[in-house]
Amino acid sequence: MNTHPWPYPRIVAHRGGGKLAPENTLAAIDVGARYGHAMIEFDVKLSRDEQLFLLHDDTLDRTSNGWGIAGELPWEKLAQLDAGGWFSRAFTAEPLPLLTQVAARCRQHQLMANIEIKPTDGCEAATGRAAALAARELWRGETPPLLSSFSFVALEAAMQAAPELPRGLLLDEWHDDWLSMAQQLDCVSLHLNHRLLDAARTAAIKQAGLRILVYTVNQPARARLLLEWGVDAICTDRIDIIGPDF
Ligand code: G3P
Ligand code: CA
Repeated sequence: MNTHPWPYPRIVAHRGGGKLAPENTLAAIDVGARYGHAMIEFDVKLSRDEQLFLLHDDTLDRTSNGWGIAGELPWEKLAQLDAGGWFSRAFTAEPLPLLTQVAARCRQHQLMANIEIKPTDGCEAATGRAAALAARELWRGETPPLLSSFSFVALEAAMQAAPELPRGLLLDEWHDDWLSMAQQLDCVSLHLNHRLLDAARTAAIKQAGLRILVYTVNQPARARLLLEWGVDAICTDRIDIIGPDF
């Protein structure tokens, strides 16, 4: 099992600034830092010309003024989009950020990072490899970013490209073979939808030597219960009420 140290805090700001700023933008990262958080989670994919940038959905429609599959466009086109105006007028013209810009902003705020590799269909291995190599370079000499993905293939490619970086397998449904999957990917953690957990499952995962990050927990009472069970990190949108000292 991966014995990488776990230097990460208990609370992780989801998509940068939760729901207080347009997700996965530099503005969202600034908001996460302003609330005093020590770590942010964000979603990374590849443009057609293999630039790593932040976006959650496969398509541009929900969180920008563009449309269609984001990964089919070159960065030159993606860079022109407004990824903030959909959220509020105050964020109009906020651009989609490149991972390089995000790394610099994290360094500026002394934020640790959970990079979720969110590949466009068919680009799983390429995205995993590119994200891992970029993470190694961009965070050199700093706390390594925690790489995670729902894609087994992406994490496998990340492991082959930069085996020294910590990896967490994301699960949105329960798999009885979670331990075997985590071992094959030499994971340090499981990143679970919190609804999948109970005290017994939490104990079993911890007993196996894995850390646990849960998403997306927005109710303080639920967050407290999960921490009592032994969960290591809570990924939350409610960065205002589930603060860094929670
Ligand atoms: O990484 C935890 C969480 O972000 C995974 O779900 O859909 O919000 O990317 P999603
Ligand atoms: Ca995510």
